[in-house]
Amino acid sequence: MTQERARWGSRVGLILAMAGNAVGLGNFLRFPVQATQNGGGTFMIPYFIAFLLLGIPLMWIEWGVGRHGGLRGHGSVPGMFQTLWKHPVAKYMGVAGLFMPMVVLIYYCYIESWTLAWTWFSITGATRGLDEPTMRAFLHSYQDLGNHSVHGFWTPFIFYFITITVNFAVVMKGLSGGIEKLAKIGMPILFFFAAVLVVRVLTLHPQTVNGGEISGPLNGLNFMYTPDWAKLADAKVWLAAAGQIFFTLSVGMGSLQAYASYLRKDDDLTLSGIATAATNETAEVVLGGSLAIPAVVAFFGVTGAVAIAKGGAYDLGFVAMPLVFNKLPGGTIITAAAGIMWFGLLFFAGITSSVSMATPTTSFLEENFGFTRKKAGFTVASVAVALGLLHILFYTGGFLSEWDYWAGTFGLVVLAMMETVLFVWVLGPSPWQWRKVWSADNKMWNELHDGAAWRIPGFYRFVMTYITPLFLLTLMTWWTYKEAYPTLMMDGIDPAEHATRWWSRGVMLVLLAGLMLLTRIAWSRRRARGEDL
Ligand code: ALA
Repeated sequence: MTQERARWGSRVGLILAMAGNAVGLGNFLRFPVQATQNGGGTFMIPYFIAFLLLGIPLMWIEWGVGRHGGLRGHGSVPGMFQTLWKHPVAKYMGVAGLFMPMVVLIYYCYIESWTLAWTWFSITGATRGLDEPTMRAFLHSYQDLGNHSVHGFWTPFIFYFITITVNFAVVMKGLSGGIEKLAKIGMPILFFFAAVLVVRVLTLHPQTVNGGEISGPLNGLNFMYTPDWAKLADAKVWLAAAGQIFFTLSVGMGSLQAYASYLRKDDDLTLSGIATAATNETAEVVLGGSLAIPAVVAFFGVTGAVAIAKGGAYDLGFVAMPLVFNKLPGGTIITAAAGIMWFGLLFFAGITSSVSMATPTTSFLEENFGFTRKKAGFTVASVAVALGLLHILFYTGGFLSEWDYWAGTFGLVVLAMMETVLFVWVLGPSPWQWRKVWSADNKMWNELHDGAAWRIPGFYRFVMTYITPLFLLTLMTWWTYKEAYPTLMMDGIDPAEHATRWWSRGVMLVLLAGLMLLTRIAWSRRRARGEDL
């Protein structure tokens, strides 16, 4: 269905939307937990290596894949892959770029809805005065529908429904009227809230904790940035660091490509791509790294913070942080303001990412089935609500963890591998044509530099052609062997969760099959219209 494609309103809007896509819950919730669980400073070494050799090249590759496909009328990965490689299987490989963002969207919005709920609880003062056990009970009662000790049964459903509605109201308003506008409002608020909180956290006075230990925010920073060298040899740390780079930059997710598909041929993507990556890393390392851990360490000491973090992936953000706010000097107003800023910033970080995850499937329905933006958005929202309910109902059985692992962690590497091969080796020269890699007719390199405001340093030709694919292959092999296979076999997982986890996988497979089928139908319709496939 060839219709005039929407365009970004301005360069600033585009960069903010792309940065909004990348900066998310991963920067403020996932990063501190991953860093502390994997040796603090030790984690940062593979983290930066992965950023330079995977994150940055993949950012350019995804912008390149997206613009290349968009110029040929495709806003989602199946069509983008098909334009890079004429083989009929390419579009089915590209279904990963519909599946991943859809799966992540659904569970991500559920966590995002907690941030909305906790913003509300900060306003009403519901968490004020709670101590550690009661704060934990407050969170667990929300997550476990059978536990009515604090929240009513319907509370999580209400916040989830509001979150999905707000998300799709933005998506349905279109590119510059919805997504770009949200980014222009949400990103400055997010950075402002984060900056205020960082200043407050870093100026906290050291105090005596745990019966004698003196602890302040700097102890938290030390803890986070002091390497434990013995851990560097541990493959798990490398996998965790690479996994964080993928998740935080949104690479391998299909959403950056969808946004890039709205670029014009002469729009810059080299400088804009690196600006997006740099903004994300500033938000993650400078702001994300200076919030939860230093704040919690200041009041609970390192041992206390580690114990809280081990209590659950979300305990740091939803248990420890409200406890910190309760202890801030200044009384009720300061406690409420800090809570609103923390959960408010999480909500804005979340929503500017989740609208990007809703974009590929929405564009897919618009472009292949002639749906209006509204109808497409409504259809995707309905699927998201229906499947999201399962997350609310079965959260405690590990339903969400399965989706987070297979789509939000392992799947990202799989999509990244496929797009790297297609963009770098199929569009560009094959790796053994090494002369061509450096020649002026390296199509991959030229594609990236159409309209470029900046030339990428030449050694990245080598990195993108050889190092990134090799790194990805090694990662995928290690991951399969060390984690994916044992996870598939339910190694170390509580037997009480096995049944829920199996059927959680079943639902994902049904979704995948559905998207494959839609792609098949879309292509037979294209063929029937006599389009050049
Ligand atoms: N990149 C997004 C995040 O960090 C998905 O949360």
